[in-house]
Amino acid sequence: MTQKETIILGIESSCDDTSAAILKNETILSNLIAGQDVHREYGGVVPELASRAHLQSIVPVVDAAIKKAGIQRTDIDGVAFTKGPGLLGSLVVGTSFAKSFALAMDIPLIDVNHMYGHVLAHFIDDAGKEKPQFPFLCLTVSGGHTQIVRVKDHLDMEVIGTTIDDAAGEAFDKIAKLLGFEYPGGPFIDKYAVKGNPDAFSFGIPKVGGLDYSFSGLKTSVLYFLQKQERINPSFIEDNLEDLCASVQRSIINILFKKLILATEQTGIVQVALAGGVSANSELRSRLKEEGQKRNWKVYIPKFEYCTDNAAMIAITGKYMFDKKVFCDQSVTAQARINFNAYKAAK
Ligand code: KG4
Ligand code: ZN
Repeated sequence: MTQKETIILGIESSCDDTSAAILKNETILSNLIAGQDVHREYGGVVPELASRAHLQSIVPVVDAAIKKAGIQRTDIDGVAFTKGPGLLGSLVVGTSFAKSFALAMDIPLIDVNHMYGHVLAHFIDDAGKEKPQFPFLCLTVSGGHTQIVRVKDHLDMEVIGTTIDDAAGEAFDKIAKLLGFEYPGGPFIDKYAVKGNPDAFSFGIPKVGGLDYSFSGLKTSVLYFLQKQERINPSFIEDNLEDLCASVQRSIINILFKKLILATEQTGIVQVALAGGVSANSELRSRLKEEGQKRNWKVYIPKFEYCTDNAAMIAITGKYMFDKKVFCDQSVTAQARINFNAYKAAK
């Protein structure tokens, strides 16, 4: 007897992207994202504008995802949505939509932790690409989080290192802003760094205990350095943009790897994955491959489209919860903050 197919609608609205995806078993049929240009001129996400933009996009994006997948609404077995963490007003839009959809279609409602989604994006079927074996370590680096996660099973994970201040993506974005780039600046630093010299300037590595990270000191030292240099040469940034980008990027990546290497030594786990928006960074991706070869790690690099926020990762997480019948009811509410280690996906 063949196993019944499971079709999940995934909804993601935790920050400034409205996304909907249709997943059949572990295969993505559609994964659409409506971005929000409205934040560019403000140099960061404006929460009130984000929730309004989600409201405008959610229905058309879900409709388009269903059409693109070539299915009927009635084929959907469950609706998975991001419950948190994220911006409350943004989360409320996706949560309310998912609740109404589940009620109208009389199907299970699945509340997904966004940070589980980033990790589990590795389990989406992708021709020929190997999926991680348990246990593995996942360096999840995004605009809001920097975590080393010990992944024991799909729904059993633990954060063993985290940032005590800014996230890695936040460091990219804040420093990019100092260099004159618009938000989000991470991809600009990546692009300009390609032609720069990463050893041109050095910014030092913070001293933080254990497996934790800190990025606020780096941002401050870049700020003071730029102020000092601009007093001597007002066009210092312009004259050295590529070298500055390469040096900043190298510093962030060195900081990330110092603790990641320590984590493999402390846990003895040598399967290492990357996740989150910053894992789209070209140097971070190639550095993981290099370190993997050097240290005999088995490494897993996510597909570009599953690095930054997307609903496909929410749908795959929802699928594992669906299989275990981990559903929520209509009393569920969005949650801006979730204590990762206290949270139990399998409930
Ligand atoms: O995971 P994500 O889409 O949203 C959050 O959950 O935060 O991550 C967004 C972050 C931003 O800080 C953005 O600048 C960063 O990912 N990012 C990059 C690159 N692409 C996106 N940072 C460095 N290099 C990139 N190529
Ligand atoms: Zn994210």
